[in-house]
Amino acid sequence: MAGTLLVALILATGVAVKLARRILAPLNSVAASLRRVAEGDLSARATMDGSPIGEATRLVLDFNNLAEQMESMARDRAFWNAAIAHELRTPVTVLRGRLQGMTEGVFQPTPALLAGLLSQVEGLARLVEDLRVLGLGESGRLDIQLEQCDLAASLRDAVGTLEPNLRAAGLVPELEMDTDEVVCDPVRIRQALMALLDNAINHAESGPLHIRSFRRHGLYHLQVEDAGPGIPVALRESVFDAFHRGQKSRSGQGSGLGLAVVRAIARAHGGDVRCLPSSQGGTIFDLTLPG
Ligand SMILES: Nc1ncnc2c1ncn2[C@@H]1O[C@H](COP(=O)(O)OP(=O)(O)OP(=O)(O)O)[C@@H](O)[C@H]1O
Ligand SMILES: [Mg+2]
Repeated sequence: MAGTLLVALILATGVAVKLARRILAPLNSVAASLRRVAEGDLSARATMDGSPIGEATRLVLDFNNLAEQMESMARDRAFWNAAIAHELRTPVTVLRGRLQGMTEGVFQPTPALLAGLLSQVEGLARLVEDLRVLGLGESGRLDIQLEQCDLAASLRDAVGTLEPNLRAAGLVPELEMDTDEVVCDPVRIRQALMALLDNAINHAESGPLHIRSFRRHGLYHLQVEDAGPGIPVALRESVFDAFHRGQKSRSGQGSGLGLAVVRAIARAHGGDVRCLPSSQGGTIFDLTLPG
């Protein structure tokens, strides 16, 4: 009896120690990694030595996922800071150089020079506005003023405003507006259309430019279709990422924010935007809103 008890006790102790190890080892690893993360080392990850039990495995995986997300957020933040600084540097350098030159009498404040400075300031204002919209969009706080509006009329007006620039780029706008009243924020949708037209002016080849609006399967579509050169399949998602840009365009290098702003506006409406191949050899940007 005493022998059996002793054997049972030894067996139970062995099992308990093994079990404790399978719980303690991952707990220790999580605790050690947590300390490293707290000290700023976001690359720390917990390990799963000694075949941990189910709950401990879950804890290690959850911790590692959290650390991964924190590291990726820190990377994004560093990238955004560097990209914003890079975008600000050129216009600020140009403005400072020209203004300094004027104060020292090196440059005369001619209308042409002042117009050049104004366009730098306008570029800066646009950059700040794009960043503001993206920041609000990312935090889900982009203010959308929904109203019932005759969107076709407001889109026609937007195209009219840019028509001289479209024609100068060899683009022939062809409007096919097939929608009546739409519930949306007309100012923001106009802003999105302007960004798409701006892209056609800067990145598309000359030819017809179709601007359509129609309702299908409960969705309102706004499309801009150009005749080339098109966007490679591999880039059709990433063109919507902030600061993604292709080669130098007609008007020099953009900031790579236009399509990110279009997406933020579409998503704030509960819609989205996609980039599709066009049968004309170009691109269709298809913005959808809940109809
Ligand atoms: N219609 C188009 N045809 C071909 N490529 C395009 C077209 N529209 C956009 N792109 C590509 O997608 C990239 C991202 O566009 P996006 O509007 O976000 O930035 P951008 O035009 O370069 O700069 P920004 O709009 O901030 O002035 C462009 O740099 C270009 O390479
Ligand atoms: Mg653009």
